[in-house]
Amino acid sequence: MKSIIINGGKKLEGEVTISGAKNAALPIITASLLCEGEHRIANVPSLVDVKTLARILRNMGVDIELTDHAAVLDSSRLASPEAPYDLVRTMRASVLVLGPLVARFGKARVSLPGGCAIGARPVNLHIMGLQKMGAVVDIEHGYVVARAKRLKGAHIYFDIVTVTGTENLMMAATLAEGETILENAAREPEVVDLAHALVQMGAKIEGAGTDVIRITGVETLKPMNYRVLPDRIETGTFVIAAAITGGAVTIRDCNAGHLDALLTKVSETGAEIRPGNGTITVRGNRDIRPVDVKTLPYPGFPTDMQAQFMSLMALAGGTSVINETIFENRFTHVAELRRMGANIVIEGRSAVVKGVAKLSGAPVMATDLRASASLILAGLAAEGQTEISRIYHLDRGYESIEEKLSALGADIKRV
Ligand code: EPU
Repeated sequence: MKSIIINGGKKLEGEVTISGAKNAALPIITASLLCEGEHRIANVPSLVDVKTLARILRNMGVDIELTDHAAVLDSSRLASPEAPYDLVRTMRASVLVLGPLVARFGKARVSLPGGCAIGARPVNLHIMGLQKMGAVVDIEHGYVVARAKRLKGAHIYFDIVTVTGTENLMMAATLAEGETILENAAREPEVVDLAHALVQMGAKIEGAGTDVIRITGVETLKPMNYRVLPDRIETGTFVIAAAITGGAVTIRDCNAGHLDALLTKVSETGAEIRPGNGTITVRGNRDIRPVDVKTLPYPGFPTDMQAQFMSLMALAGGTSVINETIFENRFTHVAELRRMGANIVIEGRSAVVKGVAKLSGAPVMATDLRASASLILAGLAAEGQTEISRIYHLDRGYESIEEKLSALGADIKRV
């Protein structure tokens, strides 16, 4: 099994270019199921999750070609609107095929994803929304089976803000009869990016980026030619890489406006952050100040940056409290960071992090995607060698991370 070896202590310096956003590329790819014809999507990151989704679509009969950071898709010959368990179980975002399939084909059979390392992550709100739009939904043999003649516009209120739930129902509503209102909708930039792609396909959507999205259904859509926005979580991970190593890094092809909460918090720790036109320059400070964070739906502090921020706080000159409100089990990195000398205590949904003067390299194990990133960051700052195993999680969400870090001067390699 592959692992990543880091010899820590190198300051990162130079420039790094950000890839397209995983969590925008995935729903935008599934949006291509909404109509016939050739869709072209650019700035698609080269990631295992994108390949997994491509396998799921191919399995349905979609023609899909993934080339250098681009996807060309045509679902004109789709034969079976079905996503099987053995593919879905490796990636929860597969559930994003549900809304488009029911909307266009009037039926879908999609495996329930099952448990996940970071929490239970049910899809009840996706199902509730489709039912409100008139679909008959049954759970049969571990699959969500949904049927509808034509979906009907509905007024849908989400009890919990859900990113892929909002995306699924927004896609479904584009072809429904009449108006759909999504209330307490997710406001993440990836939701807005998907809305832009759908509008380019001819959908009528207003309010994406606010918590009320109105969609007026149309009879048919047309293929898109769309470029995916930059990955804000990859960007944020490099912001912390610069801060934690006391380095100076310019991050290119990114959008600082999508990272306000994180950038504010990182600058409170003492790092200098200079947003530019499509760039962010970060200069780390030796003295890292402790800063509390609480994860929240966008525009709050992203849960997908919680683990990485904790690595930075592990080296702060004082105590910080990190409160995770989105997922109930997203602290699996804590035990691994402790193996590197971090002083972290979990109290319910908070982690109390008492900063230490130094971390020391150790063999550690990645448990999920963002936990893996936090271990890489800790390894970059630690004294000595860190070996991170189970790195397949990383390849799901970070494109060429060791190449990008090496180019900044990190001593990192995959073995
Ligand atoms: N929830 C429900 N019922 C539902 C849907 C969600 O109770 O029907 C709960 C979840 O269990 C969770 C909360 O609502 O406690 C928020 O979950 P959400 O649905 O927003 O998460 P998601 O859509 O499954 C996306 C990202 C995640 C990211 C979260 C939160 C994609 C493909 N995934 O997941 O990304 O953490 O939003 O921002 O967009 C990652 O990239 O590492 C990752 C996990």
